[in-house]
Amino acid sequence: METVLEVVDLYKSFSIPGSRRKVQAVNGVSFTLNKGETLALVGESGSGKTTVGRCVLGLEEPTRGRVLFKGEDLSPKNNVRKRHLRGRIQLVFQEPAESLDPRMRIADSIEEPLKALNLPASERAGRVETVIRRVNLRPEVLGHYRSSLSAGQQQRVGIARAIITDPALVVLDEPTSALDPTARAEIIDLLREIQEATGTSYLFISHDLSAVHYISHRIAVMYLGMIVEQGPAAEVFRRPRHPYSVGLLSSVLLPDPKIRRQTTVSLKGEIPSPIDLPKACFLAGRCPFATDICYQSMPPREEIAPGHLLHCYHHDRVAEVDQASDTFAEFQASAERVLGVDVLETDAGEESPTRRGRWASSTVESPS
Ligand SMILES: Nc1ncnc2c1ncn2[C@@H]1O[C@H](COP(=O)(O)OP(=O)(O)O)[C@@H](O)[C@H]1O
Ligand code: SF4
Ligand SMILES: [Mg+2]
Repeated sequence: METVLEVVDLYKSFSIPGSRRKVQAVNGVSFTLNKGETLALVGESGSGKTTVGRCVLGLEEPTRGRVLFKGEDLSPKNNVRKRHLRGRIQLVFQEPAESLDPRMRIADSIEEPLKALNLPASERAGRVETVIRRVNLRPEVLGHYRSSLSAGQQQRVGIARAIITDPALVVLDEPTSALDPTARAEIIDLLREIQEATGTSYLFISHDLSAVHYISHRIAVMYLGMIVEQGPAAEVFRRPRHPYSVGLLSSVLLPDPKIRRQTTVSLKGEIPSPIDLPKACFLAGRCPFATDICYQSMPPREEIAPGHLLHCYHHDRVAEVDQASDTFAEFQASAERVLGVDVLETDAGEESPTRRGRWASSTVESPS
């Protein structure tokens, strides 16, 4: 399988004005993203997701570590602004309005990234027409301005702007969080359709875990700038093995509250400051499984199943205690039975990613 993005031992810290101390936003993140695949970065606010995305886009310079796009090092001097990389990595914003100039017609906004590629005007116009249909908007929209579109339509335009250059990779930073549930579901379906048609890879940053569950092939759980657990999405949702993932994923809101994930793992206590991180496991002060060693050194990264990696000394104990983790399987079976739809199905062992089902039709009521 072709690797599109490789992030190797990435660190990013920010200076604090008037202080010699630093905010340690990203602390040793490594992952790969393959062609046609969606990797979700999940974690609470402040866990470093956006900073990782910005380093990938070349908008932040890593303190340490490497970002490789199709094997090519994206060092600051060779980043996405370089001619041959232009348009190959694109971004979809959280706030759709942010990517659209209120004074520009929608057609001009969508066309803008093509101008940076120096495409002739005749070719640009044709591609704008094609892409507006691809995001399921009527061509009439092209003559409008941002203010006359709904948030959901604006986000479709934001996606059109991103995909018009045929990127190999799109970084989506909370692309649905500003949208109402109907628009959110439609955007998630649209992103999947586009990926199935084009083979684009997505780095999908979100704290919307039910959307993540639906759209991702793999998932990486971040806590205080580290990926504490990563693996095939179905496996990590079904059997998370890091105490932090168990705590985080138990908060997923499923369509039927009766089949909400139950777990015995609860995390209590203060989150350490990213300015003063311990040398040991960052979760030690909050973790019900912690023993002396957890307070002494950082657990190394371990591969517990193919592609399923985590940092925890006591993942075996988590496996013993977290007996309720079949609830997701129960959710899948029951959703199929009750709603008559298919839900996410990702097989960890498969060569190419597969998913089925439609989100919009399965989880969101029609607008009245
Ligand atoms: N430009 C910046 N200057 C200082 N601190 C920053 C900056 N950007 C992010 N941070 C800090 O880095 C940490 C990670 O932030 P961020 O990547 O935005 O997390 P997330 O996207 O997961 O909410 C937070 O503690 C945040 O306050
Ligand atoms: S290493 Fe120890 S403190 Fe850290 S998550 Fe695992 S059990 Fe908890
Ligand atoms: Mg963020």
